[in-house]
Amino acid sequence: MGIKVDFSGMTSRTALRDEYLLVRGETERICSLLQPDDYQIQSIVETSPPKWHIAHVSWFFEAFVLSHFAPSYRPFHPRFFYLFNSYYETVGSMQPRSKRGMLSRPTVDEVYAYRQYVDEHLLELIETLDESQFSDFLFRVTMGLNHEQQHQELLFMDIKHNFSVNPLRPAYNEKLIESQQPAHNMQWIEREGGIVEIGNTADSFCYDNETPRHQVLLQDHKLATRLVNNSEYLAFINDDAYSRAELWLSDGWYLIQNQQWQQPLYWQRQGDEWWIFTLAGLRKLDPNEPVSHLSFYEADAYARWAGKRLPSEMELENRLSELPVQGCFLDHQILHPRAGEQQWFGDLWQWTASPYGPYPGFKPLAGSMGEYNGKFMCNQMTLRGGACVTPLNHSRATYRNFFYPHDRWQFSGLRLAEDA
Ligand SMILES: [Fe+2]
Repeated sequence: MGIKVDFSGMTSRTALRDEYLLVRGETERICSLLQPDDYQIQSIVETSPPKWHIAHVSWFFEAFVLSHFAPSYRPFHPRFFYLFNSYYETVGSMQPRSKRGMLSRPTVDEVYAYRQYVDEHLLELIETLDESQFSDFLFRVTMGLNHEQQHQELLFMDIKHNFSVNPLRPAYNEKLIESQQPAHNMQWIEREGGIVEIGNTADSFCYDNETPRHQVLLQDHKLATRLVNNSEYLAFINDDAYSRAELWLSDGWYLIQNQQWQQPLYWQRQGDEWWIFTLAGLRKLDPNEPVSHLSFYEADAYARWAGKRLPSEMELENRLSELPVQGCFLDHQILHPRAGEQQWFGDLWQWTASPYGPYPGFKPLAGSMGEYNGKFMCNQMTLRGGACVTPLNHSRATYRNFFYPHDRWQFSGLRLAEDA
């Protein structure tokens, strides 16, 4: 087992109860701006309806906590175990991902009743569970809360995409403030190579894919002091980059041909102007904001066009580990990347040049929770740093996010690197 349970500050039953209510309440606060009809939409196979998300995160507690620690627990509904299992094959079969949007029943009200039922039983267990089982219980509940935080970010990703395909271009929240940050010149910091350690020591909660901590060799390199912004990306577009095969990886080239991509997701041209769809609705493109919602292929092609490269995940982690975790996160309620310098943490997940694979000595968690991360370690790329829709306390230097290279509905951007 790579993960020890030592959650300083939340090891008492009272603290766990408070943390549970806080995280669960945040999910409901995020959804409180939705209308009942919004809960049903699944615009593409990658997105899930908000109704499915809020039920699935409750299912997680049912499947991995209540079923495990409360032998007399009766599931809220016998078929919900099928409907709201995501990908845990060792737990049972599941509703196909592409058909999550077909579920007009249970209704939104019934799904909230399901949440409440799970909450009541979970909170009772926090009070009554035998002390001898508490450590394992604490770990599983903490997994469930971290899982729910991941789904909070997924909710924003999916709501944004669901709304973007609606010609009315509805706003999730039209009152979101704009960042109004000034432009910054991109500079370079020199980073000395050598043998360094990366990965999590697992002294506090982390996912299994961040472990074990181990040595890697870095070459001397340079990292840009901010993310690539919209005006820079516009120069790439205006240089016919989407029509120049020499800038693209082969898979990326075929993808942009087949999909007829000419710009990042959510950009649209109106006459001579560029606009961008945000969670606040359509906005005029701010040239100083970091370019967002790029696929790995677009980030990689931009770096090649610029005569640079993407950083490796080891290079980025090495830098992030020197810095406090601060930046534009979900907690700031801007829900859009800000212009400005640095942006090491927050604003946008940063694509890296590193494939998502196991660290040397990696061992997935025992049992069904071992399906959480390890089985996805093929054909995906890692991203680092967190985004404006990531909860602040869900971010850390060692955190490894991962997506397929063609994905771009996540809040992703890029930072340039170069060899020294
Ligand atoms: Fe999930």
